[in-house]
Amino acid sequence: MDSILELSGLSKVYPGGLKALDDVDLTIRKGEIFALLGPNGAGKTTLIGAVCGLVRPTSGTIRAFGHDMAGDWRKARSRIGLVPQELSTDMFEPVHRAVSYSRGLFGLAPDRERIEEILRSLSLWDKRDERIMALSGGMKRRVLIAKALAHEPDLLFLDEPTAGVDVELRKGMWAIIDEMRERGVTIILTTHYIEEAEMMADRVGIINRGKLLMVDEKEAMMKRLGRTEAHITLAKPLVGLPPEIGRFPVELEQGGTSLCYRGGDGTGLGKSEVADLTKALIAAGIDYTGIDTRESSLEEIFVSLLGEGEGAA
Ligand SMILES: Nc1ncnc2c1ncn2[C@@H]1O[C@H](COP(=O)(O)OP(=O)(O)OP(=O)(O)O)[C@@H](O)[C@H]1O
Ligand SMILES: [Mg+2]
Repeated sequence: MDSILELSGLSKVYPGGLKALDDVDLTIRKGEIFALLGPNGAGKTTLIGAVCGLVRPTSGTIRAFGHDMAGDWRKARSRIGLVPQELSTDMFEPVHRAVSYSRGLFGLAPDRERIEEILRSLSLWDKRDERIMALSGGMKRRVLIAKALAHEPDLLFLDEPTAGVDVELRKGMWAIIDEMRERGVTIILTTHYIEEAEMMADRVGIINRGKLLMVDEKEAMMKRLGRTEAHITLAKPLVGLPPEIGRFPVELEQGGTSLCYRGGDGTGLGKSEVADLTKALIAAGIDYTGIDTRESSLEEIFVSLLGEGEGAA
């Protein structure tokens, strides 16, 4: 697949010596949704700022749409949209004007219909004449999104687009992101809601202390790092593990009334092993009354990965 953005050896040391980005290599493919995950202070906003020309990298290169951002940034910049994490917009402006202006700023002809469509899709049409300062926090965030959409970017950064936004609105936001994907927009988002990345992203990158620890297809990452846990409720308690199931990664729990399986690490085969386990139980004459199986979520993978990082540091 074509790449749209290439970061190579990207580092940022802020005055004072803090290394916010540490030798980051990353290629973003055209049309994908890429989720950048990491704890507070990991370097996500710095990375986005570097691509958008708001943060000057200490070393490394950024190429967007084939242009080197150090020299040629103007050509690429007009194709990049940013919904910043911090609310900083023309607070005294009415919504409609701020959004239209954003379009003009990037050299596009006015398009009333397109602006109306954007405002309606973000439920901002009724608020179009209100001053931004008079809106609630969640609505201000929607205005930022409307502004970013108004200039029809090919590459869109969403820095915590759903932080502080209620559930309804968050769902609306996901629908908008989906729609943009359909239009072929490449999207890089950061989020603290890992379920959001789990739902939306094609690929996931995990960053901590300025280092990109891992980049992978979401499915592959979950398969590689995920595990399966199954709790099997037994019809009669067991005092010990019967030899017939000795080969499975199981333990007795709850006073022998339940069997706990934990396995499938890195293979994605946990579920089929649980199926084999239940067959072995039946063959051994051990009855059970229920099975509760779950796969680990991206969140658990993320937490354990960062935990390992802490240990190594
Ligand atoms: N202008 C600045 N000057 C000095 N240090 C900065 C500056 N901006 C950010 N930092 C530091 O760089 C590190 C990375 O910050 P950054 O904002 O990129 O993190 P983040 O991953 O976006 O975090 P969050 O999830 O809280 O938004 C932090 O330690 C932060 O304090
Ligand atoms: Mg940030």
